[in-house]
Amino acid sequence: MRPSEIPPLSELCHARGVTIRINTSLDGIDWAHVKADLAADDFDNGRSPEALHRSFDQSQHVAFARDGDRVVGMARLLSDGVCNAYLVDVWTMSAYRRQGIASATVRLLLDSVPGQHVGLQADDAQPFYASLGFREQPEFWSYVVGTWLENDATG
Ligand SMILES: CC(C)(COP(=O)(O)OP(=O)(O)OC[C@H]1O[C@@H](n2cnc3c(N)ncnc32)[C@H](O)[C@@H]1OP(=O)(O)O)[C@@H](O)C(=O)NCCC(=O)NCCS
Repeated sequence: MRPSEIPPLSELCHARGVTIRINTSLDGIDWAHVKADLAADDFDNGRSPEALHRSFDQSQHVAFARDGDRVVGMARLLSDGVCNAYLVDVWTMSAYRRQGIASATVRLLLDSVPGQHVGLQADDAQPFYASLGFREQPEFWSYVVGTWLENDATG
């Protein structure tokens, strides 16, 4: 199914008059194009298009915002389905920011994990997460096993 034929879960009207469709389908996404758009926004963390696809395909919950067939926003959520979830890869293409796109995609994900504690690492998007009700929780610790993406993700 072409992305433009997938029924949207919600629609947003972008300031330039185009309709942004939000849904959870990975159908028809051009991952090389997504990677190039992430790189243009300085938000490419090194995954190959195939690895990017796998990251989303293997996440419990995903959300995409599309202008026509082009992905202009996305986010994904890892969850144990019981009590803990982790929000990752939240992005809106720079030309589409401050139109509520990331809020809509993240809210869609949050709606799928009622009662769960959702964590994330905010680099410099603190005001965005605060606007959704997230609060800073100090003492987040992390560890990279070996070297970042020294696996089959960059191949
Ligand atoms: C952070 C990001 C996802 C926000 O996407 P967006 O679609 O513009 O977000 P929204 O339009 O839903 O913003 C909702 C609210 O968040 C806050 N907000 C969003 N971006 C903000 C910014 N740059 N500065 C201050 N507040 C901001 C505002 O309160 C905004 O509401 P308002 O526009 O009515 O004032 C986007 O800027 C982005 O992709 N940044 C680069 C990638 C990144 O940093 N991702 C997060 C990784 S932790």
